[in-house]
Amino acid sequence: MWNSWCTSKVRLVGKTVIITGANTGIGKETARDLYRRGARVILACRDVQRANDALEDIKNNPPSRADKEQFQGKPGELVIYQLDLSKLKSVKECAEKLLTWESAIHLLINNAGIMMCPQEKTEDGFDLQLQTNYIGHFLLTLLLLPKIQASAPGCRIVNVSSRVQSYGVIHEDLNLEKTYTPLKAYSQSKLANVLFTRELARRLKEANINGINVYSLHPGIIHTELGRHFHKTVFPGASVVFHWLRWLRPFVKNPEEGAQTTLYCAVDEKTADETGFYYTECRVAISQWKKKDEQIAKELWDKTCQLLHLEPDENLAVFLKTVSRQIE
Ligand SMILES: NC(=O)c1ccc[n+]([C@@H]2O[C@H](COP(=O)([O-])OP(=O)(O)OC[C@H]3O[C@@H](n4cnc5c(N)ncnc54)[C@H](OP(=O)(O)O)[C@@H]3O)[C@@H](O)[C@H]2O)c1
Repeated sequence: MWNSWCTSKVRLVGKTVIITGANTGIGKETARDLYRRGARVILACRDVQRANDALEDIKNNPPSRADKEQFQGKPGELVIYQLDLSKLKSVKECAEKLLTWESAIHLLINNAGIMMCPQEKTEDGFDLQLQTNYIGHFLLTLLLLPKIQASAPGCRIVNVSSRVQSYGVIHEDLNLEKTYTPLKAYSQSKLANVLFTRELARRLKEANINGINVYSLHPGIIHTELGRHFHKTVFPGASVVFHWLRWLRPFVKNPEEGAQTTLYCAVDEKTADETGFYYTECRVAISQWKKKDEQIAKELWDKTCQLLHLEPDENLAVFLKTVSRQIE
């Protein structure tokens, strides 16, 4: 029940995949799987040394189920791009390089994230969790969309959210300047991932941009480095407690198990005709925001554009043509 596996046998030879935060945790295991399926996998990471270590590990160690059909045949390629999602400048530079050097982008997996860190303002003036988890990915996606569109059909954008999104609220002050709590900021940013998914899917459909599907998901509770800030914001020693949770199986998964719903959204044939939904355990789940989602998602899109000084256009096709110019 807690360990659904992506069973798709699809091979990804000739496909290019970008995974943010691929040097550890769920992102690294997602990369390991897709690389063995033959894809060119781009590890978009903020720390190049950590990304290099991950690259060597992925290259030398296959997934645990290496005997499966999808992992037979030649592995793909592994490439590193530097990306710090908490800096707009870095997002722009990374997107520019990707647009220049990559001939196609078939899959974008917005996976990187931080959880419940102390309050901190980024150099761009945003809350750190909001910018890392949501705004950075919002901008990266918009900047890469023209190339994804040119690589369609069969393209997918996957946003890794969390079950915590269902406790989230989109606040009037997105940066929570005066009302910050670590959990409020995290759950808001993860709800924003879900709403962005719905709104992007809607706008793609309305603009008649076909062949790009968008997904959001909760990966489960996974033993990764995500609890690294807990000792500062929960209680002293909380990061160590989070570390020990790995023994609570099957409630707590290992990173390979934790990557399965991401992989399901990214490659499975069963999701090929679905877009805009939220998934958990390799199936569609219902977000409790369902009833009010549409209006809130639209407002959030406009507000995010405002924060980024982007003039939104109701027609996504028109808007996309202007984003890179507007963001200079
Ligand atoms: N683990 C869980 O139980 C769980 C549950 C629900 C949702 N999730 C979501 O799953 C995703 C992956 O988390 P994880 O559990 O694998 O955590 P993790 O082990 O801490 O990995 C997070 C990744 O994000 C990267 N990252 C952090 N800040 C970044 C920035 N400013 N720019 C670029 N990359 C950045 C990290 O890079 P560095 O190593 O350089 O810091 C790391 O590669 C997150 O979105 C998280 O919210 C996880």
